[in-house]
Amino acid sequence: MARVVVIGSINMDLVTLAPRFAGPGETLLGDRFLTVPGGKGANQAVAAARLGAEVTLVGAIGDDAFGAQLREGLEREGIHLGHLRRVADAGSGTASITVAGGENSIIVVPGANARVTPAQLEAASDVIRSADAVLVQMEIPLETVEATLRLGHRLGVPVILNPAPAQRLPVEWLKLARYVTPNQHELATLLGADPNDDFRELMRQAPCPVVLTRGGEGAWYREDGEATHQPGFAVDVIDTTGAGDTFNGALAVFLHEGLPQAVRNACAAAALSVTRLGAQGGMPMLDELNTWLTTRT
Ligand code: RIB
Repeated sequence: MARVVVIGSINMDLVTLAPRFAGPGETLLGDRFLTVPGGKGANQAVAAARLGAEVTLVGAIGDDAFGAQLREGLEREGIHLGHLRRVADAGSGTASITVAGGENSIIVVPGANARVTPAQLEAASDVIRSADAVLVQMEIPLETVEATLRLGHRLGVPVILNPAPAQRLPVEWLKLARYVTPNQHELATLLGADPNDDFRELMRQAPCPVVLTRGGEGAWYREDGEATHQPGFAVDVIDTTGAGDTFNGALAVFLHEGLPQAVRNACAAAALSVTRLGAQGGMPMLDELNTWLTTRT
């Protein structure tokens, strides 16, 4: 069983299904409203746990009703929460999400996620030392992202940096990551490059191994030499929210099987995730993924 530690955000997703996106100053009637657990850190932890990993989540919730619900949901998934902090004077993170035509737009208010500190990470260093992989994203303070990269490097534990939402990062931080997993736009932002540049060229410019996600087209990965393509799996798309998180969670779980197999499984898990509503709603269990993969070439 893979041991995965996730350092990241925990949000309550406030999801509105609408016929299309509203423009500035416009009011639209939506079709449906849901309150579902999300946050890139929590999503990646749930994805990895459903695929059979032993998962610890290092993060923070607020002292509010959302916080209590989010904690219960993570407990039900069997995720270790010994390093989950309840912050007394902050609300839980929220994400206001509009889903229209299978696409989404998201506004995150970090709340307690802004209080995930390097000290909290250091306190989890024993769990991290014995992990097979560490996942970190960028909805928590950047100093904690840097501390995660440095700690993983110091302990010899592979850190997967999912640079979302993207910001430009120092090259020396990127060199500490075992893999960086952006989409094309995020990779350009990370490197301070033009997002219209060819993504293979952007991958060549990166100072670290890159696994680049391309939505329904699948993923490209490059350690040394030329980039390799893992095609996507065709499915009927309901909601793409959390597809990248499912990809990252699965990548961490299957990394010990080698990068090509891990990327293939991650693409398959992400494909399954978009066939149901909500960031965590479509994340597959290990059995479901394996059975589904036997029907694909
Ligand atoms: O990646 C999807 C996630 O981004 C959502 O669950 C939302 O909470 C935001 O963090």
